[in-house]
Amino acid sequence: MNSLTNLVDFSQSTFWLAVASILFNPTFWNFAARSEYHNKTLTKLAGGNALYGCYGLAATIFILGIVRDAIYERALRNQPTHPLLLGFVPNALAAALVLSGNVLVLSSMWALGITGTYLGDYFGILMDEIVTGFPFNVTGSPMYWGSTMSFAGTALWFGKPAGFVLTGVVFVAYSIALRFEDPFTAEIYKKRDRENSKKAK
Ligand SMILES: *[C@@H]1O[C@H](CO)[C@@H](O)[C@H](O)[C@H]1NC(C)=O
Repeated sequence: MNSLTNLVDFSQSTFWLAVASILFNPTFWNFAARSEYHNKTLTKLAGGNALYGCYGLAATIFILGIVRDAIYERALRNQPTHPLLLGFVPNALAAALVLSGNVLVLSSMWALGITGTYLGDYFGILMDEIVTGFPFNVTGSPMYWGSTMSFAGTALWFGKPAGFVLTGVVFVAYSIALRFEDPFTAEIYKKRDRENSKKAK
C-alpha cells in the first residue's frame, strides 16, 4: 500500500523535468569550465577577457539555478503530500534545513567571491590561498551540501516524499561533480605552486 509509487507520482512530466534540470546543471558547468581550461572557449566568447568570461559563466550558472529551483517547486506541487511530513515539527525542521543550507551557500560565496565561487580557477583566475575558515571548516563543499540541504528542506516544507527522491538525485549529481572537480582544481593549484617555486629559484 505504502510503496514508493504511492508516495511519488512518477507519471508527472514535471518530476522528470526536475530530474533533467538537476542533472543538466553540474554537467553543463563542468563541460563549460573544462572547455575554457583547454581551449579558452569562454574567454574567446568574451572578447579575450577571462574575467568577463568568468562573469558570463557565473551569470549563466546563477540563472540555470533559478530555473531549476522553479522547476523543482512546480514538480513538488504536482506530487502527493504525505500527512506524516506535515505539522509543526516537520515545518520547523524544514525551515532549519533551508536556513542552514542558505547560510552555507551564502557564506561560501562571501568567502570565495564571484570568481572563486564560479570556477574562476579554470580561467586562470586563482585564489591567493585556500580558504579554510567558516564555512570551509564545516564542509569542504559548502555550496554543494548547502544547496542539497535546501532541496531537502523544501521537500519537507511542502510535505512531499517526491522531493526527497529529487534531493537524492541532487546528492548523486553533486557527488559525481565533486569527483570530477576536486582533483582537477587541486591539479590547477599544484601547477601554479610548481611554477611559483621555479620562479623563486
Ligand atoms: C569554524 O570557524 C568558525 C569561525 O572561524 C568558528 O566559529 C566555528 O566554531 C568553526 N567550526 C568548526 C566546526 O570548527
